Amino acid sequence: MSMSSFLSMENIHKSFNHVPVLKNVTINVEHGEIHALLGENGAGKSTLMNILGGVHHPDEGTIVLNGQTVEMVNPRTSQSYGISFIHQELNVVSDLRVYENMFLGAELENKFGFVKVEEMCRRTNEILAQLGVNIHPKTYVRQLDTSYKQMIEIARALLHKSRLIIMDEPTTALAEHEVRRLFALMKNLKQTGVSIIYISHKLKEIEEVCDTYTVLRDGKVVGSKRMKDEHLDEITKLMVGKSVSEDRLIESHAFGQVALEVKNLTHEGFFKDINFTVRKGEIVGFTGLAGDGRTELFESLFGYRKKYTGQIKIFDRVVTIKHPTQALKAGMGLVPKDRKENAIIKDLNVIQNMSLSSMAHFEKAGFIKGKTEREKFNFYQQKLNIKVPNPKTTIDKLSGGNQQKVVIAKWLEVNADIIIFDNPTQGIDVGAKREIYQHIVSLAAQGKAVIILSSEAPEIRKVCHTIHVMYQGEVTAQFAGEEATDDEIMSYATGSKRGR
Ligand SMILES: Nc1ncnc2c1ncn2[C@@H]1O[C@H](COP(=O)(O)OP(=O)(O)OP(=O)(O)O)[C@@H](O)[C@H]1O
Ligand SMILES: [Mg+2]
Repeated sequence: MSMSSFLSMENIHKSFNHVPVLKNVTINVEHGEIHALLGENGAGKSTLMNILGGVHHPDEGTIVLNGQTVEMVNPRTSQSYGISFIHQELNVVSDLRVYENMFLGAELENKFGFVKVEEMCRRTNEILAQLGVNIHPKTYVRQLDTSYKQMIEIARALLHKSRLIIMDEPTTALAEHEVRRLFALMKNLKQTGVSIIYISHKLKEIEEVCDTYTVLRDGKVVGSKRMKDEHLDEITKLMVGKSVSEDRLIESHAFGQVALEVKNLTHEGFFKDINFTVRKGEIVGFTGLAGDGRTELFESLFGYRKKYTGQIKIFDRVVTIKHPTQALKAGMGLVPKDRKENAIIKDLNVIQNMSLSSMAHFEKAGFIKGKTEREKFNFYQQKLNIKVPNPKTTIDKLSGGNQQKVVIAKWLEVNADIIIFDNPTQGIDVGAKREIYQHIVSLAAQGKAVIILSSEAPEIRKVCHTIHVMYQGEVTAQFAGEEATDDEIMSYATGSKRGR
């Protein structure tokens, strides 16, 4: 053991139902460092942190905090040692108000036992302001977007003045400017001696904000170093066990007829004068920062919003789309973002979840291919490397990323002429990301017109023939996929350059 470490988890073993998930794991975290915990989906990251957080108990091993061996009996013990946990699965209570969530289990009371509502609201406001979030503390959480729920989790950790904050994929639902704010805050916390354990599949974030890292592979530590001593490619290789190619995935090929043509599409306050085409076989990407109007644009195209003007043509026919069923009839499919929050049923097993119908309308319209449920599952389990003890386990026993894989697999079966993917690789490890993109490329090769929405320009550059960059509701630049650089995309996405 390293005597100086603030935290050492030593020789940790953990099995679920006799299946070993952590094997002799040791990790050391120093005062005031941001330590990345890395590994593929199912490698054991959340389990290790759940042990530190008192949610699970190790079968063997010790936790040493500030030189003292401690036992994390339950989450409250862990909190009492100054550890806060921002969970991968959002852990806010929808039926409570924002401030009630912030102070849950630690309500402020006066000496007569009355809760001090106004005081809690004031402190909530203070912290949300630091995060640049503008919501009323008395709002019910159920009324909020996913990104705000994630912000409340983060705010709660800040409130409790922790010495160690565990952040398990804190940025999945955050927009770029929110990520910036979070990173600025993390750097400030670090200056005050707070340590952070940071889990993410966004390797660029890791490189930017972390000082040290530990990589888990199949429940074992396979590397631990200072960040600046290692190249990201090497870290990826440690995670996946082989190198993952960084090359572009597509070849240029001749496209077919225009499948979708959009003219002067406008929805005041959201997007303005949008014009683009997507041909059969073409993959078109839309990227930008928060508030760029991209999601609203495609919600309109898909009939979730009705108040827009302009023209939509599908295979040369002018269509009116004011309801999703019209979009489906016209041959469009949309793979929504925030899939997990809406699309998983915890009590059902993996196969049931994969064949589940938040997609009922797709099935009615005959859009699902005829593979049997079991075949479909086997195919994607192998393709996307879905780690599941057995397909009859309930889905909540899977790691977060493996749950995502199950959901995305379901959507990859959508058999529409024009397919829109909103944020398809959220929470998914680098190896499987590539598989998913490869699948999307093969859909295009079969003649589908494909649209990908993503805030991660480096990712979509590899799969798109054409990229549109949006800023405040307008398309500010259009690139052929191979000519765009990340920097250039960024300068159009921030509005510092326009008109290309
Ligand atoms: N409560 C549980 N019961 C049974 N198995 C579990 C349970 N929790 C986790 N597992 C299994 O432990 C393994 C590690 O899961 P864990 O959630 O720690 O992975 P992870 O590294 O956090 O992955 P991800 O990046 O997908 O979040 C997985 O194979 C998972 O199925
Ligand atoms: Mg996890």
